Amino acid sequence: MVGHRGACAYRPEHTIASYELAIDMGADLIEPDIVVTKDGALIARHENELSRTTDVATRPEFADRRTTRRVGRKRRTGWFAEDFTLAELRTLRAVERRPDLRPLNTAYDGQFGVLTLEEVVELARRRSTPLRQVRVLAELKKPSWSAERGQPMVELVAAELRRLDATSPDGTVVVQSFDAAALRRLRADLGDDGPTMFQLVDVTACDDHLLTNAGLRAVSTYAQGIAPCVDHVLLRDADQRMTGVSDLLPRAHAAGLTVVPWTLAAENEFLPLHLRSSEDPAARGDALGAARLLLALGVDGIITDNPDVVVAARAELEQTAAPAIDTAVDTAA
Ligand code: G3P
Ligand code: CA
Repeated sequence: MVGHRGACAYRPEHTIASYELAIDMGADLIEPDIVVTKDGALIARHENELSRTTDVATRPEFADRRTTRRVGRKRRTGWFAEDFTLAELRTLRAVERRPDLRPLNTAYDGQFGVLTLEEVVELARRRSTPLRQVRVLAELKKPSWSAERGQPMVELVAAELRRLDATSPDGTVVVQSFDAAALRRLRADLGDDGPTMFQLVDVTACDDHLLTNAGLRAVSTYAQGIAPCVDHVLLRDADQRMTGVSDLLPRAHAAGLTVVPWTLAAENEFLPLHLRSSEDPAARGDALGAARLLLALGVDGIITDNPDVVVAARAELEQTAAPAIDTAVDTAA
């Protein structure tokens, strides 16, 4: 089970507190998104624009860095990681992305800084024990776009994984990206005995080709798994009604791929209609029900904002599957 941006339902995403809590709750992996700084450092931020998850907009010394830029297909205005050195970014403080949805998390605003990939790897290693390996699922954000702007993210990540001794398939780091070309380049660079990789798949039409049988076979030549949007597994209509279950799991397994869907979150906003508790998007619905359903279908993992929910669902399943213990006392002797 993967703690998405840590345990971001309970702490501001990508902070040390969020990752620590995910591990405390039982996450097997913690998930930093990775973007590149001006000086080529790899940092844990969901997107290169920083104003939704840091206090950069309140800092007069950086006011002149505000700009408008096309990032991928979208035009964004704000402050961008690639315009800051790592030393400058270290002066920023993290804030909650969704105060409307997760107001309790704002209590932690300003308490934590921005982490590097290296620091997240160090945390995972520090929290691993002989009985429990904690791993890092590092998502490369827009690596091809980054490369076009002169920041070769794939090469930087390959070099960093080598430096951190994290290039083996069972090593600390698993890599994922929506960018298939970047994953192929990373595989070519680090080799077939390089790190485990997941191909992320969105629900947009341009990703559909990845999920045909031929597409899945192609993915299996460079990645060990797919991480599809959960809506590819639990199908919904435009009214958010669940309409059924797709055949993606058996087809991906037949292609030799593990399946780790994203993102299970407990608020009504994210759940199918029948699992919502009310019309309040911020109220918690039946996320445990959604986790039970995914596990019963045979997913190999779940990427979640609420690691505690998936741990509970997994424990239930293990209990059901455990062989019955004969507690009868033989009194015949
Ligand atoms: O890890 C899967 C998921 O994180 C991909 O989407 O936007 O949350 O990074 P996003
Ligand atoms: Ca992510």
